[in-house]
Amino acid sequence: MAKSKIAYVCEDCGSESGQWQGQCASCKAWNTLKQINLGSGGGSQSPAVQADFRKQGYTGKTAAAVQDLAEIELEALPRFSAGMAELDRVLGGGLVPGSAVLIGGNPGAGKSTLLLQVMCHLAQQMPAMYVTGEESLQQVGMRARRLGLPEKNLKMLAETEVETICRLAQEINPRVLVVDSIQVMHSHGVTSAPGSVAQVRESAAYLVQYAKQTGTVLFLVGHVTKDGTLAGPKVLEHMIDCFVMLESNDDSRFRVLRGQKNRFGAINELGVFAMTERGLKEVKNPSAIFLARTEDNSPGSVVMVLWEGTRPLLVEIQALVDTSQGGHPRRLAVGLDQNRLGMLLAVLHRHGGLFVADQDVFVNVVGGVKVTETSADLALLLAIVSSLRDEALPRELVVFGEVGLAGEIRPVPSGGERLQEAAKHGFKKAIVPKANVPKQGVSGMKVIGISKLSEALDAL
Ligand code: TYD
Ligand code: MG
Repeated sequence: MAKSKIAYVCEDCGSESGQWQGQCASCKAWNTLKQINLGSGGGSQSPAVQADFRKQGYTGKTAAAVQDLAEIELEALPRFSAGMAELDRVLGGGLVPGSAVLIGGNPGAGKSTLLLQVMCHLAQQMPAMYVTGEESLQQVGMRARRLGLPEKNLKMLAETEVETICRLAQEINPRVLVVDSIQVMHSHGVTSAPGSVAQVRESAAYLVQYAKQTGTVLFLVGHVTKDGTLAGPKVLEHMIDCFVMLESNDDSRFRVLRGQKNRFGAINELGVFAMTERGLKEVKNPSAIFLARTEDNSPGSVVMVLWEGTRPLLVEIQALVDTSQGGHPRRLAVGLDQNRLGMLLAVLHRHGGLFVADQDVFVNVVGGVKVTETSADLALLLAIVSSLRDEALPRELVVFGEVGLAGEIRPVPSGGERLQEAAKHGFKKAIVPKANVPKQGVSGMKVIGISKLSEALDAL
């Protein structure tokens, strides 16, 4: 028998190295290289796994041929709905047969609950199988009963060995398979403990290959460590087609499902859920929750319209500007890019004539929303100005627009839709880039188009 190969894989970034080193050469993390056994064949999957696949008779089409890009025959992706609009949206429009979807999140975020709800409903229309490695069948059964989910037809299995899972799955041939969670799975070909890099990697590879070859939709659950990385190796992210995170704030009952990677669609979609005593409920109008404002109007707060994937979202941005006590004024951005804040403050000084170099500046997006869009620039600056002058902005004002280095206000995509959303929520006045002002106006709203930062300051 050929000598088996050994490699070292970084637990953080998944990069591979021929020998052990104290520091990972690619991500520079210390002490993250773990030994894995590649078997004699090398490559990403051990020969033990490949032989096992042959033995079990999964028929993979491996014939390779070179083709012209223009001549590739396109089939429409045969998607089907997961029965939950918010999940469908984040996955780019539904489930794709043969795809592997990884759902990450903190323990307690609601991953198992979400998938159980989805699976109970899907099982009414198609063969579906739920594998639990963490909870007992009784625990899952009790949860389903308590949530009042349809219990018929869903095939349940408590098992942690991937070979057994795939063998049993093949008898049922489910169209959707859930494995909860990948961190407790193990493959009999690998000797290290469940949760280790080698186990997670081989187990996931085995399950993903099963999904690809049988056209099953595979949901893998993955736990996330405190700092937000997937526990175990990042290498999982390379294997799967979609990676979505179920984000939770400790103190909030709302959960945000966010796409991180999607081979079949955009990743900027957001799904919002609320955890209730009857499980996760979809939130159809997320703007309403992120906008739950206090009654009195305080300086430093302004509402803007974000564009999340295919829909608008109203969020509140807050700023606090205060005389700096030390020699070095602080700049802190929560939910926004700190470097961009620094840049915008320079623009404010140069083109708005407002001096903040001796002030601490703190900015925050309410509700734990992360803003990556440049459309937040103008709202951010106006919140800062409002706090600096200690004057509250009108309650019914909404603002968006990108600010350039020359103090010019640049248009942002989907201006009209953003204004419609704001009008729907009762906002009466908007300050937006000139090019974003709709010609026919917005009913019930006064829209002020501006092209320079100074005009925005005048318009307040
Ligand atoms: P769970 O799905 O077990 O989380 P995960 O699989 O991501 O670790 O959800 C667990 C949390 O959700 C738990 O703290 C209790 C809460 N929960 C509710 O509030 N209502 C419910 O109906 C259910 C099922 C769970
Ligand atoms: Mg769970």
